[in-house]
Amino acid sequence: MNRAETHFFFASCPRGLEAVLVNELTSLNASHLLAVDGGVHFKGPLELCYAANLHSRVASRVLWRVARAAYRNETDIYEQCHRLPWPTWFDCQRTLRVNVSAIKASVKSLDFITLRIKDAVCDVFRSHGGQRPSIDTHNPDIRVHAFLTATELTVYIDTSGDPLFKRGYRREAGEAPLKENLAAGMIYLSGWSPGRVFLDPFCGSGTLLCEAALMSAHQAPGLHRSFAFEKLHSFDPSAWSQQKKMATDQQTTIDPDTLLGSDLRGDAISMARANLDSLGFVDAVSLKQANFFEFPPPASSGILVANPPYGVRMEDRESLASFYPKLGDTLKKRFSGWTAYILSSDPQLAKGIGLAASKRTPLFNGALECRLFEYKMIAGTMRRIKADKTSNPTTPAPNTNNPT
Ligand SMILES: C[S@@+](CC[C@H](N)C(=O)[O-])C[C@H]1O[C@@H](n2cnc3c(N)ncnc32)[C@H](O)[C@@H]1O
Repeated sequence: MNRAETHFFFASCPRGLEAVLVNELTSLNASHLLAVDGGVHFKGPLELCYAANLHSRVASRVLWRVARAAYRNETDIYEQCHRLPWPTWFDCQRTLRVNVSAIKASVKSLDFITLRIKDAVCDVFRSHGGQRPSIDTHNPDIRVHAFLTATELTVYIDTSGDPLFKRGYRREAGEAPLKENLAAGMIYLSGWSPGRVFLDPFCGSGTLLCEAALMSAHQAPGLHRSFAFEKLHSFDPSAWSQQKKMATDQQTTIDPDTLLGSDLRGDAISMARANLDSLGFVDAVSLKQANFFEFPPPASSGILVANPPYGVRMEDRESLASFYPKLGDTLKKRFSGWTAYILSSDPQLAKGIGLAASKRTPLFNGALECRLFEYKMIAGTMRRIKADKTSNPTTPAPNTNNPT
């Protein structure tokens, strides 16, 4: 990767967050943005790849595209990869892993393709100087990703290393923790901004709170971790230090009394506290052990974002059948003035809430297809809602969730 040139990159993300990722990359001055299922293609200089790794809260990885070519068979794939100048990109002492994924590829075995690409890389190194990189499938220095369609091969070098949702703050994980980048994406989709009240009353190990705290403090999520681009020959330590310094300088303190979390279980609160503590934010977030159905709202308005238990991973469906109506009742009776964003994978249980969602955004929690439901708990009377509806026809129609 040459500093003066522009390059093509692909940032992957949880499905459903592509538009959010486009916004993030646009704010980093990426060009040629193209969102596809599960990620965004973009273009820019070397520094942009550093910035995307450092600042993106929703990307999972940033891949640098090193080749794109037509292929017909396994031999073509080997030859295309054998043509690439691997030793100009990284040292033979680096350990290597090759990953292959495909959609409708015209090859028999992806394992065989993985082997052939690995052979091509190692053969180039051997003919170059005698030594070849060794393979490490668990913790490699360099990850090569190949993506096949029916006719086209694309080869990438991963610039992230550990996936970007591994921010390095998670000391403890509860039963069903959200991935950090999905949590950040949910917060973006809620429209919350620092300074406003943010509540997660089902906080578990506190992922949403940690992400909201990082946003409030304007802290880049990648500030305290390392990246695979540091192991490439093109790595420019002074450009990287400069970016980290700029990111450090833009940090601010968190507005007091704006971030609040609670959970029924004391062990969950301890986990959330440990995770916030590892970020240095434990004093900036108010945590308490509480049953959501029993505590009064901590403010007259705010944004509630949560993934309450849902049937697949935590509680059984029968107990959840009574849980969701109670959740709906509590929101309706106590949380007027608030907007709630609830992630659920179960349309039946979401119906049980008994509130009309003003928005449903499809999101994937790993392989689990979910919806992020928006409930606007409008304060005031129906007459007021009707008046608002008439005065601003572009506003999504308020539901009848207001207490009358
Ligand atoms: C899916 S987990 C949340 C995971 C969390 N977002 C994370 O990333 O770690 C759901 C949480 O809801 C909590 N919970 C269940 N019923 C509750 C209730 N009535 N009031 C408050 N918390 C409750 C559980 O203890 C559990 O920690």
